[in-house]
Amino acid sequence: MEWIHDCLPYRISDSVEELQPDVIIALLKSSYWAAERSEETIMNSWKESLCLGVYSEVGLQVGFMRVVTDGATFSWLCDVIVDSEHRGKGLGKWMMAVLVDHPRIRHTSIYLGTRDAHGLYEKYGFERREMMVRSKARYLLDNDV
Ligand SMILES: CC(C)(COP(=O)(O)OP(=O)(O)OC[C@H]1O[C@@H](n2cnc3c(N)ncnc32)[C@H](O)[C@@H]1OP(=O)(O)O)[C@@H](O)C(=O)NCCC(=O)NCCS
Repeated sequence: MEWIHDCLPYRISDSVEELQPDVIIALLKSSYWAAERSEETIMNSWKESLCLGVYSEVGLQVGFMRVVTDGATFSWLCDVIVDSEHRGKGLGKWMMAVLVDHPRIRHTSIYLGTRDAHGLYEKYGFERREMMVRSKARYLLDNDV
């Protein structure tokens, strides 16, 4: 599926084929949560995910987000990022609006974690809740498995 912005020269697509790996790797390497992720892990991470890409009028990918979902009850939203040159124009909000209404996940509960972007997600119906997590990477390190 594809969405064209009403007044800005950008397009959103959920096509995995359109994703630009070099751009996504660079964006995630610049993030506070995925800087240590290997390129291989980043490439693998979107194979089973629903991904949205934002593209400029010259076809360059400038934004990304992905969702891991069972398609029925549960979705986990992650890796939400817009290229710094294109921030502050409403692209993050536009991706969120498209995402929460996407037919593959709009009937599921959507979870996410964030350090400081709560205000963005609250605009789209997210509420602050406590959650637990088991970090597999840390477990493997601690137990030398
Ligand atoms: C967060 C991010 C995707 C937002 O994209 P964007 O296109 O710049 O944002 P928009 O122009 O659509 O506006 C975002 C809105 O959320 C609000 N907001 C709340 N917390 C925010 C935060 N930590 N960063 C950016 N915006 C935030 C903004 O104030 C703005 O609201 P407003 O229009 O009422 O002023 C982008 O700033 C980014 O890539 N940041 C670095 C990566 C990151 O922190 N991602 C989120 C991880 S959970």
